[in-house]
Amino acid sequence: MEPIISITDLSKVYDSGFRALGGVNLDIRPGEIFALLGPNGAGKTTLIGIVCGLVRRTTGDVRVDGRDIDRDYRAVRAMIGLVPQELTTDAFETVWATVNFSRGLFGKPSNPALIERLLRELSLWEKKDSTIRTLSGGMKRRVMIAKALAHEPQILFLDEPTAGVDVELRKDMWEIVRKLAQSGVTIILTTHYIEEAEEMADRIGIINKGEIVLVEEKAKLIARLGRKQLVLHLQSRLDTVPTSLERHKLALAGDGRNLVFTYDTRAERTGITALLTDLATAGIRFSDLETRESSLEDIFVDLVRSAS
Ligand SMILES: Nc1ncnc2c1ncn2[C@@H]1O[C@H](COP(=O)(O)OP(=O)(O)O)[C@@H](O)[C@H]1O
Ligand SMILES: [Mg+2]
Repeated sequence: MEPIISITDLSKVYDSGFRALGGVNLDIRPGEIFALLGPNGAGKTTLIGIVCGLVRRTTGDVRVDGRDIDRDYRAVRAMIGLVPQELTTDAFETVWATVNFSRGLFGKPSNPALIERLLRELSLWEKKDSTIRTLSGGMKRRVMIAKALAHEPQILFLDEPTAGVDVELRKDMWEIVRKLAQSGVTIILTTHYIEEAEEMADRIGIINKGEIVLVEEKAKLIARLGRKQLVLHLQSRLDTVPTSLERHKLALAGDGRNLVFTYDTRAERTGITALLTDLATAGIRFSDLETRESSLEDIFVDLVRSAS
């Protein structure tokens, strides 16, 4: 399948001389939810800004649906909806006017039925005649989404859609994004919340210091880079890890009742067999055992640390 967005050798050096992006290569597949995950300052907003035509690239090639973003700016821009990181709406306008106007900006004919459907889907219909300033933070964000969708884009960028949003609202937002993806919109979201990428994305790209460190299917990423933990529930508690077991990566948990062994699923040998032998020799018995997969968080922290 042809990528809907194709980014090649993209770099951005701001006028200050700061290199915000360097050598970025990235393809986005039609219909996917792609999470661009990275710490603050990694270059996420810059990358989105370039694709949306808000930031000029220094070098590189960006194509949307096969079209060059500069040469075919209008056609490309019409395909894209952007929910920016900062809320930018006129506080004194009504919800209806704001969303309706946004459609007009793209030269699309007025379509009240479409605006109504959008507002209903985003649970904003009851608020259509309210001015933006009277809305809660969560509602304002939904207005931003309605605005971004008013011209029926095929691609939606959500720049940190839940930054500073409480947990409940974050879950609402995830639900909205899922529904949008089901309706066929390609979604690229940026986040510095690992949980959000883990929850939402089909694929995850990790960006750090202006470079894409890795792009992978979420499930594969967790499996490929993941480490596992083997947790042994001990029959009798330990105060310390016995010296005869020091060569294994062990930690005590659960007030000395659990022995936790961390191993690399990619390694040829996990070390589990040797561990079990040494445990038997040391006379340590366990009543039960379980394995746990490491979360994306462990992977992310690892990558960002090793890259810096
Ligand atoms: N207009 C600008 N001029 C100079 N530096 C900028 C400008 N905009 C962003 N930067 C810098 O570029 C880096 C990446 O910023 P940004 O793309 O906003 O990162 P993110 O969205 O991942 O937090 C940051 O170090 C930021 O300070
Ligand atoms: Mg940003």
